Order: sequence, then C-alpha cells, then structure tokens
Amino acid sequence: MYPRPFNNGMRNFIVVGHKATTTPNFSLEDIPGTSGRLDILCRAVTASFVLSHGIRKDVCVYLVLLGGETAKTIQLRGETLRHLNPDERTTAALLKKALAVPAAAGWTMSTSGIFVRTGGFAELLADLKDARLIYLREDGADVRQISAEAEKAGTTGATPSGSAVFILGDHTGMTAEEEALLEQAGAKVVSLGPTSLHADHCIVLLNWLCDTKVFMPE
Ligand SMILES: C[S@@+](CC[C@H](N)C(=O)[O-])C[C@H]1O[C@@H](n2cnc3c(N)ncnc32)[C@H](O)[C@@H]1O
Repeated sequence: MYPRPFNNGMRNFIVVGHKATTTPNFSLEDIPGTSGRLDILCRAVTASFVLSHGIRKDVCVYLVLLGGETAKTIQLRGETLRHLNPDERTTAALLKKALAVPAAAGWTMSTSGIFVRTGGFAELLADLKDARLIYLREDGADVRQISAEAEKAGTTGATPSGSAVFILGDHTGMTAEEEALLEQAGAKVVSLGPTSLHADHCIVLLNWLCDTKVFMPE
C-alpha cells in the first residue's frame, strides 16, 4: 500500500505551497480565497498529469503544504492515480479527501494513487537525496543553453529524463532557507527564460521538453 518515497523511472515534480492549508476545511466554492492558494497546486497537478485522453502514468507529483501548524506532503502517482479530471474543483476535492486522512510520518493512502504524510520540504529532499534535482528559477542556467551544450557534446538522448525531480515554487517563489537546502542537496538551477511564468505553465513546458528529449536532465 505504501509507495517507495522515490522511484527512479518516474518524472517527478515538487511544488511548494507556502500558505497552502493542511486541513480539509476549505470551500470548493472559493478555493483560492479559503485554502491558502491550493488552486495553484491543483493547476500544477493538472499540468503534470493530464493529457488530451488520459493521464501520464510515469509522473509523480509532490505537493508540499506549509500553511498549517504541521506541514504535510501529498504524493500523487500516475501509475495508480484514479478520479483525476482536468478541472480544478475535482482535483481540489481529491486533495480535500487526502487532508481529511489522519496523517503520520509514513505515507497513508487516501484515494487510489494519492498518499499523504506529515513533513515538509526538508524531509522530502532527504528522501530524494539520490535524485537529479532541478530547481526552476527565472535567473538559472537557460534550458536552451544546456540543451545546445549537450547536443554539441553528443550527449543528447544519452540520459533518460525518468528520475529527474523538478522543483517549483508557488506565487511567492521559494524562501532563502529552502534555496539553501537545495544548494546543499546539489540541485541545478535551471531557467525557462527570464519571464516569470506560472508554475503550472512551467510544468507544461518541462513535460514537452522531456517528451521531445530537448532537455535531458543529467
Ligand atoms: C509564479 S512563479 C514565482 C514568481 C516569483 N519568483 C516570486 O518570487 O514571486 C512560480 C514558480 O515558477 C517557477 N518559474 C516561473 N517562471 C520561471 C522561469 N522563467 N524559469 C524557471 N522557473 C520559473 C519558479 O519555480 C517559481 O518559483
């Protein structure tokens, strides 16, 4: 029942919600106004998984919720994920169910493919210490430059993108403390260009870059 904390072979996304609620006490009628901007995380889930007809099985998403007394992390795994629709409200309802589950330090399943536990960003990074961490930030190394250099070196296509972990902030970005953790963990800082985009739009671009093997994180 309990997933391994990190599974090589998946494309992983982490989105940190600094104000996101850790309780189910929010209204599906007003998600942005009552949940600490859980709507941002819902859109990130849609961008990560939803295809025109179906969902990506090889994607795993971690939502780090820091807007409560005790931090919680929700994990969604494409291989077993059920009931995910493209609309924000359905995703918010799935997260609401997960937040109603009594959470402990180990993963507990809520609905199929959705797991919850207590713990925040530092705990998650500790689990993912063997992964290739890619921190998305506007002023990072340009993804096109990285691709061009890989092509020049003849390494394009040599590395599967499967075990990469892409890390994104919410509307407030990431804190200095979180950035320090990322640096310690050896994360590469990568940019999709200087224009600040929404996190879910970044995820759409990252899925495309990896699908088309334009970007093969090493
Ligand atoms: C809405 S942006 C955050 C905006 C801004 N950094 C801030 O501090 O408020 C949400 C997240 O998307 C990612 N992001 C946005 N634009 C990006 C870009 N051009 N390149 C790489 N990552 C980007 C970053 O991870 C960022 O934390």
